[in-house]
Amino acid sequence: MSNLIEILNNAGQEELANYLNTLEGDARKRLERDIASQDWEELKALHAEKSTASLSDNVSSDLKPMPFKIGADDLRYEFWKETGEIILGKGQVAAFLVAGGQGSRLGFEGPKGMFDIGLPSHKSLFQLQAERLQNLAAQVGHAIPWCIMTSPLNHEATVNFFTEHNFFGMDRQNIRFFEQGTICALSPDGKAVRDGEDHLALVPDGNGGCFRALAQSGSLAWLIERGVRYVFLYSVDNALCRICDPAFIGALASEGRSMSASKVVHKANAGEKVGIFAFQNNKPGVVEYSDLPEEYRDMTNPDGSLTFDGGNIAIHLFKIEGLRKLQTSKLPWHTARKTVCGIEKCWKFEQFLFDAFPQLGSMMPFGVIREEEFSPVKNAEGNDSPKTARTMIGKLHREWLRKAHAEINPNKLYEISPTLSYAGENLSRRVFERELGKNILEFDEE
Ligand code: UTP
Repeated sequence: MSNLIEILNNAGQEELANYLNTLEGDARKRLERDIASQDWEELKALHAEKSTASLSDNVSSDLKPMPFKIGADDLRYEFWKETGEIILGKGQVAAFLVAGGQGSRLGFEGPKGMFDIGLPSHKSLFQLQAERLQNLAAQVGHAIPWCIMTSPLNHEATVNFFTEHNFFGMDRQNIRFFEQGTICALSPDGKAVRDGEDHLALVPDGNGGCFRALAQSGSLAWLIERGVRYVFLYSVDNALCRICDPAFIGALASEGRSMSASKVVHKANAGEKVGIFAFQNNKPGVVEYSDLPEEYRDMTNPDGSLTFDGGNIAIHLFKIEGLRKLQTSKLPWHTARKTVCGIEKCWKFEQFLFDAFPQLGSMMPFGVIREEEFSPVKNAEGNDSPKTARTMIGKLHREWLRKAHAEINPNKLYEISPTLSYAGENLSRRVFERELGKNILEFDEE
């Protein structure tokens, strides 16, 4: 493979080229495979660009908040919901889970979707999602295809987990697993970092790699062949995610103009670590919390509310035309300096999926109530942890039961199986009495 040596030399990676020449047999083949998976010209350009620029990505001074409304009158909401159910019933909606992250903050060995957040049922995040999808599919009378993006680091474990659990009762034909791409970490002076003798330090290329991976894996074509027109994209760790929410789908379909829609919540406080929806140079998008200058972060309206208040909860809906467009479009690379394979201050690059929005033009913000739809499991303890997720589920499900006039114990929390209720429907006093201890479990607040 003299071609690889030439590519490396041209990209300033002579050290790696020389090292490769010292290897033989399978070890050489393994390293060659890693090298061939990378775009060395792009890595060279990235290092040159990032090492001379400031680390924080520039936010334009022309930043305007994106207005959004939470809720709609009942009639409108019902119309959206019914529209969404009709679209789902025609098989035109798919779910797309991005689950290629490393979940380092949670500190759980293995794919985050396998994590048991400690509910009385001990269901994993994957199981909760699979059950919600199946319940909705049964209600609308059509299977919902499910694309699951993994990374080379967790692909096998993810597929094995689903296989061991018999795909949670779903038809295997409706699930597609595929890996996202990787990008090589670079040393402070831009040299490729090796992981052991015959591998490169390849890290997942960020959740923004999802558009490329969806297309390159053939999954986009698979969805198009099946007649899918809307793709519901979400993160693995939101324990309250209403997957393929019909009202959300119906709202985008009724609006007509936008290529995508995103769920938005009011920020909990100025310092909350969520990106915000805003217009930058008149283009809609998301500004990551770490990139939002303080004066914008703390800016308030005359009534004291935050000006930049639209929090991104990573729940998006794309029209299939939008995904077709994004398969070849270039997203910016974000940079972090981390210790990799014992080398300090290495360069790690990743793309963020929300950087796609400015490329799609108009987008539709869809305001939702945090307590009903957003409980991310990011940290082992404290904020956004398994404990906060358990409590939020417990309180939300108790509220569903209260509205259904069930005789609940107001001091307890409840877990309702998604096989019984997708979003609070199908509950009553009778159902409560019948299902308590089965599909409805009572537990204590911690
Ligand atoms: P996070 O930004 O929370 O990252 O991912 P993470 O890797 O899961 O967790 P930490 O930061 O290491 O603790 C948000 C969503 O994007 C996915 C994650 O799996 C999660 O669903 N993701 C992240 C990918 O699919 N690929 C990536 O390269 C990164």
